[in-house]
Amino acid sequence: MKILMVCLGNICRSPLAEGILKSKLPDNFEVHSAGTINMHEGSNPDKRSVEIAYKNGINISDQCSRPIKPEDLDHYDKIYCMDKKNLQDVLSLARNKQQRNKVSLLMDGLNLEQYPDEVPDPYWSEAEGFEKVFRQINDACEIISKKLIQSQL
Ligand code: 4NP
Repeated sequence: MKILMVCLGNICRSPLAEGILKSKLPDNFEVHSAGTINMHEGSNPDKRSVEIAYKNGINISDQCSRPIKPEDLDHYDKIYCMDKKNLQDVLSLARNKQQRNKVSLLMDGLNLEQYPDEVPDPYWSEAEGFEKVFRQINDACEIISKKLIQSQL
């Protein structure tokens, strides 16, 4: 099963989501990430994301930002978007119902009432914003990983 995590720049939230989900799944799952813009294409993740991941035992420093492309909607089985604008932008690439059905918000259907239904953009915040985003993505991925593993049984 192939999973794509998507945010705006692919340097803060979706690299964390890629690293976190990957750490909770067996190797037969493919997990990648992409952005809806190409502004940071070729860059490694923001050092604040690298830092908070590292503190939690996850190395995301080798990841490299890339923009999402239309073929991704064929290649991946599930595409999780961090916020509603990302969702809208990814859905605008979808050419049919099968592709649209692969796309959702990360927080959708998880009943994590303590969090907002979008993963907020931490880019303009201090390190604390990144810690909050890490916890939110981590708790979401804990549930998602169990659902994905269950769906493969
Ligand atoms: P991300 O965060 O979408 O979580 O990677 C951002 C990265 C870059 C910008 C905004 C958000 N930017 O404006 O360059």
